[in-house]
Amino acid sequence: MGERASVRLRTTGFAVLVMAVALIIGSFALLFLMRSSLRAGIETTAEQRASALATQIETYGLPAPSEADEDELAWQILDAAGTVVRSSEPLTDSHITVTEDAGPYTVVVFASLDEVDDSTEALVTPLLLGVPVMLLLVGGVTWLVVTRALAPVERIRREVESITGERLDRRVPEPPSRDEIHRLAQTMNRMLARLEDSRERQQQFVADASHELRSPLSSIRQAAEVAQSHPGALPEGELAEAVLEESGRMQRLVEQMLLLTRTGTAARRRQDVDLDDLALAEARRMRRAGLTVDTSGVGAGRVRGDRAAMAQVVRNLADNAARHAAGAVAITVRSTDEFAELVVEDDGGGIPAEQRERVFERFVRLDEARARDDGGSGLGLAIVKEIVSAHAGTVTVTGSPLGGACLRVRFPLMGTGADMS
Ligand SMILES: Nc1ncnc2c1ncn2[C@@H]1O[C@H](COP(=O)(O)OP(=O)(O)OP(=O)(O)O)[C@@H](O)[C@H]1O
Ligand SMILES: [Mg+2]
Repeated sequence: MGERASVRLRTTGFAVLVMAVALIIGSFALLFLMRSSLRAGIETTAEQRASALATQIETYGLPAPSEADEDELAWQILDAAGTVVRSSEPLTDSHITVTEDAGPYTVVVFASLDEVDDSTEALVTPLLLGVPVMLLLVGGVTWLVVTRALAPVERIRREVESITGERLDRRVPEPPSRDEIHRLAQTMNRMLARLEDSRERQQQFVADASHELRSPLSSIRQAAEVAQSHPGALPEGELAEAVLEESGRMQRLVEQMLLLTRTGTAARRRQDVDLDDLALAEARRMRRAGLTVDTSGVGAGRVRGDRAAMAQVVRNLADNAARHAAGAVAITVRSTDEFAELVVEDDGGGIPAEQRERVFERFVRLDEARARDDGGSGLGLAIVKEIVSAHAGTVTVTGSPLGGACLRVRFPLMGTGADMS
């Protein structure tokens, strides 16, 4: 929860505060309105009494002194000099006064405010008790409602807590309501699905890698066993040859696997890379191996990226072309406003249309027997794909006019600096 109070506490506190302010203002307003309306009533009565007295004085003259007592309103009659000439019982409590002229005399009526004070008192006690009770009620209800609303979150949390690496197939409960909590649960579940998926792929990779490493290892072991149990049975140097060949295959495999795990970080080094330079260097290497390489289509093609990784892309494509070509390979580099493109073609057997997606998967070889002889591990194109996508590019296979496969790598020129993870 951290430094701040829990959502539940804050919501409840806020609700109680708002309610308290509203109730206090409401109570004061109620008291004020009630008092002023009672006062107005009393004032009217006093005024009526004063004018009745004045009329009486003007019509019949001053009342007899004894007449005063019957009235619940106290009054005085003053002469012009301000001397009290007649009066009722004197009033002691708080009161309001109303005056009225009656010829030479002035009538003053005193109205008691006792009734107003009594009514106020009668209201204050229930308010003093009622307001806290209301606040308690509001606080309690808010607390319960928020607790209920948060209950699914707690259920999700508990489920996630219990999902370990071993049990990634589990999912959190998705509440039926179509709200933020529902969406949170959905997002959690999608995340769990991705975790499960990547874990499966990782396990598959480890399984494939182990499988791949097992066959050169057992070849080495077999040769060594034969050499040990039948000394002289193997022709001179055959053991060393077998060990060299198989361990070379293993080394290549291990290097490629390392490369695969590293492509993500490699892509973060950014420099200007000239695809044409890489292509021409690769072509020279292939020519030394006796292949005919057509580089007439190599134009400028500058992209931003990791030079070593890009060189690996060209190398893997060239290796494949060299391996499968009947005799001729063509490399093309060109760039437009939108992308830079590298194309490697050969005149070999090509890749059947239905396999053109699959060849980019790890450890996929189309011609098992031949690939084994050649020492291919099936990782070359997977590495190409990984590096190219890390540079926001695409790689596709089509058929080549030369007769074999055509592998086309494209890097968007605006997007190569974009984020990749
Ligand atoms: N130019 C090509 N012509 C025909 N088939 C190809 C070509 N390039 C790739 N392939 C097919 O695609 C498969 C996968 O290629 P990839 O480069 O991934 O693996 P590999 O070449 O067998 O092994 P590695 O590259 O790890 O040594 C190859 O085994 C091959 O069957
Ligand atoms: Mg290859």
